[in-house]
Parts: sequence; C-alpha cells; structure tokens
Amino acid sequence: MLSLARAVVAGAAVLAAVSPSAAKGVSLDGVETIFSFGDSYSTVGYSPKDGVHDLPLLGGTTAGGFNWVQYLAFSSASTNHSYYDLAQSGATVNSSVLKHEAASPLSFEEQVDLWEDFFIGDEAEVKWVPETTLFTAFFGIKYADMGYTGLQHQNATEKIPQVVSSYKNLISKLYEDGARKFLLLTMPSTFRAPYIRSFGPDMVKTFESNTASFLAQLKTAISDLAARYPDASFARFDVQPFLDPILDDPKSFNLTIGDSSCPAYWNTHEPERNSDACEAALKDYVWLDDYHPTWSVHKLLAESIQEFLADESAQASALANFDAVATSSTAEASSTGSTDAIAPIARRGRHGANRRRRPLHGGSARARRMAWTPQLLAERAKMRRRWAGLA
Ligand SMILES: *[C@@H]1O[C@H](CO)[C@@H](O)[C@H](O)[C@H]1NC(C)=O
Ligand SMILES: *[C@@H]1O[C@H](CO)[C@@H](O)[C@H](O)[C@H]1NC(C)=O
Ligand SMILES: *[C@@H]1O[C@H](CO)[C@@H](O)[C@H](O)[C@H]1NC(C)=O
Ligand SMILES: *[C@@H]1O[C@H](CO)[C@@H](O)[C@H](O)[C@H]1NC(C)=O
Repeated sequence: MLSLARAVVAGAAVLAAVSPSAAKGVSLDGVETIFSFGDSYSTVGYSPKDGVHDLPLLGGTTAGGFNWVQYLAFSSASTNHSYYDLAQSGATVNSSVLKHEAASPLSFEEQVDLWEDFFIGDEAEVKWVPETTLFTAFFGIKYADMGYTGLQHQNATEKIPQVVSSYKNLISKLYEDGARKFLLLTMPSTFRAPYIRSFGPDMVKTFESNTASFLAQLKTAISDLAARYPDASFARFDVQPFLDPILDDPKSFNLTIGDSSCPAYWNTHEPERNSDACEAALKDYVWLDDYHPTWSVHKLLAESIQEFLADESAQASALANFDAVATSSTAEASSTGSTDAIAPIARRGRHGANRRRRPLHGGSARARRMAWTPQLLAERAKMRRRWAGLA
C-alpha cells in the first residue's frame, strides 16, 4: 500500500518532470499541417501516390460534398492547402486481424506505412514539425459493418482487443515518427443508420453491444496512450454524443430527414442537388446513403470539433478519468519497471522495405473511386443476401 502510494506520487512527478507545460489539450492554433487516417467516414480520395500536393476537392468523400477533415482544414488559412488525408473506404485497423471481404483498402497499419514512405525521412516531400502538425485517426466504422459481419462468425471477445492493441501500436508508431498532437475520434452510433436498422432490432442490438465494447476498450487505450506519452497532446472526440442528438431531433439542426436516405443521392458529389425523386434536398438529409452521413452532418461535426479544440476544459472533462488513469498507469510502469502491451515496431525509415514510388500526377484517384462504386453496391447486396440467410 505504502509503496503504491509512493509510486503514485512518483508517477505524478514523472509526468510533471517530463511535461512541464502539461500540454494535455490539443489546440488548432498554430496548426499548419494535418495528417489524417481513417475509413469511409474520413476519406477524401487522396493518395500521395497520385502526387503529394494533388489534394482532391469535391468528389472523393462519402458525404456528397466535403467531409469533416476538409471542413476542419478549410477553417484556417494555414491548413487550407496542407491536409493529407490517407483514409480509405472500407479500411480496418489491421487487415491481419479483420479483413475487408471484397476489396483491399489500406488498413490503418498500411496507411501509416504509406505515410512513412512519403512524409518521413530526409526525402520527406512535405516539411512538417511536431509542434504545428495535427494527426487525426477515426476508425471503427468497419467493425460495425464488414468487421462485425465477420465477428458474428468469429469471436468479438477475442478480436476487439487485438484490433484495439493494433490501434495502440499504430499511434505509438506515429509518436515514434514525431507526431505529438493527436485528435482521435471514436465510433459513432452506426447501428442507428438505415442500413443496420434494415436488418431488424436483433441486429441493431448486436451492433450496439459490439460498438459499446469496442468503444470502451478504445477509450481505455487512448487514456493509456496519453499516460504513456506525456509530452504529446491527445484529444478524444466522441462522435456518438455528437451524432445522437442529430438523429433524435434533426429539425433542431436544420435537417429534415434523419431516418432514411434517398437512392437518387447515393454516390453523388453534388452538394446542392435537389432531386424531385427525393423528399428533400440532399443537404437536408442526415444520411447520404444508408450508412454515410451527408456533408451537412460533416460540416456540423467539423464545427463541433473546432469548438472542442478551442475549449480546454471541455477536452479535460472528456478525458475526465485522464489524471487517474495517467497517474496509475505511470505509477504501475515505474513501480514494476514494465510497460503494458505496446509492442515495439521497427521503423521503416527511408531505407525501409517499401520503396517510395514517385508520385504519378493524373487522375488515378478518380479512377479508383469510379471503380469503387459498383464494388460497394455489389458487396452491400451480397451482405444483405447473406444476412437474410440467402447466401
Ligand atoms: C481556402 O482556400 C480557398 C481557395 O482555394 C479560399 O477561397 C478560402 O478563402 C481559403 N480559406 C481560408 C480560411 O483561408
Ligand atoms: C470467445 O473467446 C473467449 C476468450 O478467448 C472465450 O472465453 C469464449 O468462450 C469464446 N466464445 C466462443 C463463442 O467461442
Ligand atoms: C496486426 O496483426 C498481426 C496479427 O495478429 C500482428 O502480428 C501485427 O503486429 C498487428 N499489427 C500491429 C500494428 O499491431
Ligand atoms: C438554422 O437555420 C436558421 C435560419 O437560417 C439559423 O438562424 C440557425 O442558426 C440554424 N440552426 C442551426 C443549428 O444550424
């Protein structure tokens, strides 16, 4: 008991010594570069292979317009043309743990590898420094979709910890590469999307409980990371409490339809479209299709994130357990001399296994997007048949 108490004090001292400024909040002030990792909720259709500075504008998101990464970047002149979003539709965290069935989008692990190829080392194509660079990660959507479809036949109790442990390893890898400001978004209530609801209340319950389990473990992981790296800043933005009020009462957010989507808008990239075949204009819907929110919701999300990042006390209360967790895990590490299960990962650097490919300028990102659409639709149809017991 006594030694634990002393260890706690020692842990607190370590935190203070390592981080005199105790930089726990993440601010957008002074941010000049944004690197983003994620899945369809974050993708903009960018790949550094198409040219590092060839940032896509309209057309690469699943929002029918811009998405939250873009709105966040556009909010300041310094990041307006300096955001590199490696997210890909269908991405999981680690494709060795759970793999997308039909396509092979780059997982978080592969996105980080690709990022290292282009943005790390002497030949990095963009100059960035830790103090002015924000790293965002938003994963988990696929664990309520393809992932959980897999999990129904596998074992969520076993898989979720493996996914979360990979996530921790990858944030650690970014840290080792110099990342110091992290904005980490957690899973929204995708089980309330029309797609999931179309399978009935039992399926919604399964998804809801898997989401809750993933979320709980991810929150703990993020607190562990913040404790492990006191010289870095972590902001955890929970998307569920952002999205739920919109779904509960779309009208109070100037949206008119919150429980369905209009097929005429699916896979379109015309933000102002107002089709006679639909009950309202695209911008008045919460859902662009049966699983992805519209740009209107992404815009609100970016605004909400901006408010959150401008408000240190909101960030502190979001991480209300932060100090307790930080102190106790630091104490644990210093008293036992051990660390928890974050595996060291070999850095690839510029002599790594993946040879850097020179950027190809041209329209291949667009070509990939075009190829993706029928694939996505075919896959949805297959999944519906399988869940309905027809395949
Ligand atoms: C971002 O750039 C666009 C032009 O590409 C410009 O119209 C807009 O005002 C810029 N936004 C900010 C916040 O500087
Ligand atoms: C799932 O894995 C856990 C932990 O390994 C085990 O306790 C449980 O029995 C497994 N469940 C099924 C249905 O196999
Ligand atoms: C991804 O999963 C594989 C297999 O479980 C594991 O060996 C690898 O370390 C994981 N990657 C990360 C980044 O944790
Ligand atoms: C809704 O629209 C009205 C009128 O344009 C505006 O005053 C109000 O701020 C909007 N509310 C939200 C939540 O965007």
